[in-house]
Amino acid sequence: MSILDNRPALAHEIGQIAEAAGYLWQKGWAERNGGNITVNITEHADEAMRAMPAISQPIAIGSTLPNLRGCYFYCKGTQKRMRDLARWPMANGSVIRILDDCAHYEIIADEPVMPTSELPSHLAVHNYLIGKGSTYKASVHTHPIELVAMSHNPEFLKKDVLTKLLWSMIPETKAFAPRGLGMVPYMLPSSNELAAETIKAIDDNYDVVMWEKHGVFAVENDVMSAFDQIDVLNKSANIYMCARSMGFVPDGMSDEQMTEISTVFHLPK
Ligand code: 13P
Ligand code: ZN
Repeated sequence: MSILDNRPALAHEIGQIAEAAGYLWQKGWAERNGGNITVNITEHADEAMRAMPAISQPIAIGSTLPNLRGCYFYCKGTQKRMRDLARWPMANGSVIRILDDCAHYEIIADEPVMPTSELPSHLAVHNYLIGKGSTYKASVHTHPIELVAMSHNPEFLKKDVLTKLLWSMIPETKAFAPRGLGMVPYMLPSSNELAAETIKAIDDNYDVVMWEKHGVFAVENDVMSAFDQIDVLNKSANIYMCARSMGFVPDGMSDEQMTEISTVFHLPK
């Protein structure tokens, strides 16, 4: 028995998460248990799902998140591998229900897999997105090699230096990652401080933010769109590094060429 039985829409959603997890592994961005995915699946919560008994004790979130009352999330399990999740999403992740106090959750399916250690950031961001009336349902954290490497250069951590550089490597990057790349200074992984700084950066109108010397955190309508934004940004980082390893500093598109892209594609930033 699985929560996915007789719920084709939810099964499709979880299938998308599994597919994206496979890409993260293939990209080399998901060493060991690296990275995590959560998706707000409340729209799939029918009466039977709402009546499902908990299979864990109530677990403290660590903060109170008023917009999450009665919400349901699929969460990657802590210490679980993306490459395993790709094949067995319900053995390497679980569905949680946020309790009425908005400060605890319980696991309801399929197995008592403890959610990711980055749950503070994921849930705080979902709480923020709901508060904004956003259509975004998915958040993805991963360790993309080239982007993380670039975050070791203090020059690139200044606001929008990296955004501009990455956009200038290939026209599509600005078109498909139109809000660029926000910066979150190094913080202890899984901390509430990291969660707070992540929200601040996302509130500064970014869909993808860099956790300095760690990875990126992206929000989007669905898991594939979140993956795509990271993918196009990392592609630009890779092009930059290829040029540097050939021994030259890439020219980059001109400001005029980038403005033209914004006009033609009606870009938000
Ligand atoms: P989890 O295995 O707890 O999801 O942690 C992976 C990670 O990337 C932490 O930043
Ligand atoms: Zn990480």
